[in-house]
Amino acid sequence: MVTTRGEKLYEGKAKILYATEDPHQVIQYFKDDATAFNAQKRGTIIGKGVCNNRIASRLFEWLAQRGVPTHFIKQLSDREMLVKRLEIIPLEVTMRNLTAGGMSRMLGIEEGIVLNPPVFEWHYKSDPLGDPLINDDHILALKLATPEELQTIRALSARVNDELKAYFAARGIDLVDFKLEFGRHRGTILLGDEISPDTCRFWEQGTKKKLDKDRFRRDLGDVEAAYQEMLTRVLGEGV
Ligand code: TMP
Ligand code: ASP
Repeated sequence: MVTTRGEKLYEGKAKILYATEDPHQVIQYFKDDATAFNAQKRGTIIGKGVCNNRIASRLFEWLAQRGVPTHFIKQLSDREMLVKRLEIIPLEVTMRNLTAGGMSRMLGIEEGIVLNPPVFEWHYKSDPLGDPLINDDHILALKLATPEELQTIRALSARVNDELKAYFAARGIDLVDFKLEFGRHRGTILLGDEISPDTCRFWEQGTKKKLDKDRFRRDLGDVEAAYQEMLTRVLGEGV
C-alpha cells in the first residue's frame, strides 16, 4: 500500500505529525528547526531533519531486532518516517551514564563524572513548566501512568541504554545521556518520538568532542558537521 500524507495532526519544535489513510499509523516529518532552553533560543541546522530521520530509523530498527518494541514501521523518505500512532504518556525519561547538562546544573557538579549505576529520571512533559523532574509518587498520584506501565518503561529504558551504549561504543562514541518518550498503542507500551543528536549527548571517545545538539545550545560551532558525523558513525559498521 502506498502511504500518502494526510492532514497535519500536530506540529512540534522539530517534527510534524501527519495522518495517513490508516487511523493507527502516522507520518513523522523531521524539520531542520532547532530550539533550546524551552524555545527561548531558535535556529536552523541545515540537513538536521534528514540526519535525524536516518539516525532514528536505524536505531529503532536495531532496538526492535533486540526485543525493544518501538513505534517505527519504516522510513518513507529522507525526512519522513511511518510510525504507529501512540497515545503519548506525558513523561520524558532521561537516562544518564555521565554527568552533564541538567544534572550538573541541578547538583552543582562538573560534567563527565561516570554514573554507576546509570541515573534514571522522570520528567513531566510540559513546555510551560520546563519539563520538571518528578518521581514515581507524583506520577501515580496524578494517574499519569499505571504502576505496571512505570515498571515496563523503566525496564525498557534500561534495555535501551545497554543496547545503545554498546552500539555507540563500537563506533567510538560515549553515550553520555539521552531522553526517551513512550506511548500506548492498542494496549501495549511502545518507545516513541526519536533517538538522535537532538535527544542524546554524544562525546567522541578520546577527544571528548561533542557531536550533538549541545553544539547548538552552547554556540560551539560546526553544528551541521556534528550531525553529519553522527550519521556516518551510526550507519557505519561497529568495530
Ligand atoms: P538535560 O541534561 O538538559 O536534562 O538533558 C538530558 C538529555 O535529554 C540530553 O541528552 C538532551 C535531551 N533533551 C531532550 O531531548 N529534550 C529536551 O527538551 C531536553 C532539555 C533535553
Ligand atoms: N528542545 C528543547 C527546547 O526547545 C530543549 C533542548 O533540547 O535543549 O526547549
